[in-house]
Amino acid sequence: MDSRLGDDLAQLPELIDATGAYAVRILDGLGERPVARVPVRREPLPLPDPGIGTRGALAAFAERWEPGFSASAGSRYLGFVTGGCTPAALAGGWLTGVLDQNPTSGLDSTAPDLERETVAWLRELIGLPAAHEGAFVSGATMSNFAGLAIAREWLGEQRGISIAEQGIAALGPVRVLSGRAHSSVGKALSMLGLGRSALHPVDVLPGREAVDVTRLDAALDALNGEPAIVVANAGTVNTGDFDDLRAIAALRDRHPFWLHVDAAFGAFAALSPGHAHLLDGLAGADSICVDLHKWLNVPYDSAVQLTRRRDLQTRVFQNAAAYLGPVNDDLVHLTPENSRRLRALAAWFALAAYGRDGQAEIVRRDLALAELLGERIAAMPAYRLLAPVRLNVVCFTLADDPARIGQVAQAVTDSGEAFLTTTTYEGVPALRAAFSNWRTTRADVDRVAKALERAA
Ligand SMILES: Cc1ncc(COP(=O)(O)O)c(C=O)c1O
Repeated sequence: MDSRLGDDLAQLPELIDATGAYAVRILDGLGERPVARVPVRREPLPLPDPGIGTRGALAAFAERWEPGFSASAGSRYLGFVTGGCTPAALAGGWLTGVLDQNPTSGLDSTAPDLERETVAWLRELIGLPAAHEGAFVSGATMSNFAGLAIAREWLGEQRGISIAEQGIAALGPVRVLSGRAHSSVGKALSMLGLGRSALHPVDVLPGREAVDVTRLDAALDALNGEPAIVVANAGTVNTGDFDDLRAIAALRDRHPFWLHVDAAFGAFAALSPGHAHLLDGLAGADSICVDLHKWLNVPYDSAVQLTRRRDLQTRVFQNAAAYLGPVNDDLVHLTPENSRRLRALAAWFALAAYGRDGQAEIVRRDLALAELLGERIAAMPAYRLLAPVRLNVVCFTLADDPARIGQVAQAVTDSGEAFLTTTTYEGVPALRAAFSNWRTTRADVDRVAKALERAA
């Protein structure tokens, strides 16, 4: 054995302690670490021949890389839609590497059942019936991809063919209708061979990001009974708006379509009594995307894909081989990956440790904090809100000169106090603050508001 490997093996408990102590120092300092860094590009060093061992690697990482990392796990990182990592999720994440299970096959361990239990808990958390079966993927993009892959197979079924067998050329043109689909839907359509241009935007309601269901109805009508895909949005990335899922699902009485719901972070609205109604009708979806590295506060990367048509899912993703065994209910037949890590473990730890009550408390607190920041911004003459705070995202711009909002974002980043990301909302350059971290408090909102005041 290589001497460094041998030394590390002999000192494994000490190395784990040292890594743990280093992690504690990082976590203790998270609140005061500059929230984001303007990256200074580093050229790669040559690969070492003899290595430096784990202690050496820890020291090299601490010196060369860690100082440039953001506090994205911290409480004032409000860019994109970014969750942190609760203590239990962190423990689960670490043990994922320790046990190093590959849950895709059911031949050698109970790890797949842990994943199934976790999916069942998530289903309960969101209020979905058992008819929706799920599997873990790396994020909402892959969840949308998998859901739309099943939708594609359903379209084939409507035409008496299997796309999984015959390929996309057998399908012909496809229409995907959506109000304000997340960009990952276009990416998924590209990967699926349906093409980004298959996505046909449908008008939204005035002043909203929610689809106008009357327009959707008309767009479906125009297809003259041709089966289509509808992507409904439960939590838009700019303003956290929701389509009327119940009304959309009801359109299926008159039009044939597959209903995919992107509820990447919006699914967690189920945990707030004041917001749960936004998900009315979700159970009627054929496939659903739920991200976990956002509001469940588990480490990257983690999401689930849920569907009522596991038979079609297996048709798409099956991976039969003599050495793997026949197609059965093993997880390998459900998602794009073959081998993968047991990413359900971090989510299982989070749900076991904090239960519905703990997760609901995180969601309710973030909702209240988003509302509070919205009030603070509304009271600042320099800014104007672009939409009411509907969920956990505050979308706003400069009152006088929205074109300068990028400079404001940069000044906030440079201050080290907070990180917010820019967007364009209805043609207006804007900033978004998205609350999904379990650690964020009113004191953080105060600091963010002050940083915004200074930056304006
Ligand atoms: C509504 C929605 N869908 C999909 C995604 C893509 O998520 P991921 O980055 O986990 O692939 C996001 C990310 O913010 C999102 O907000």
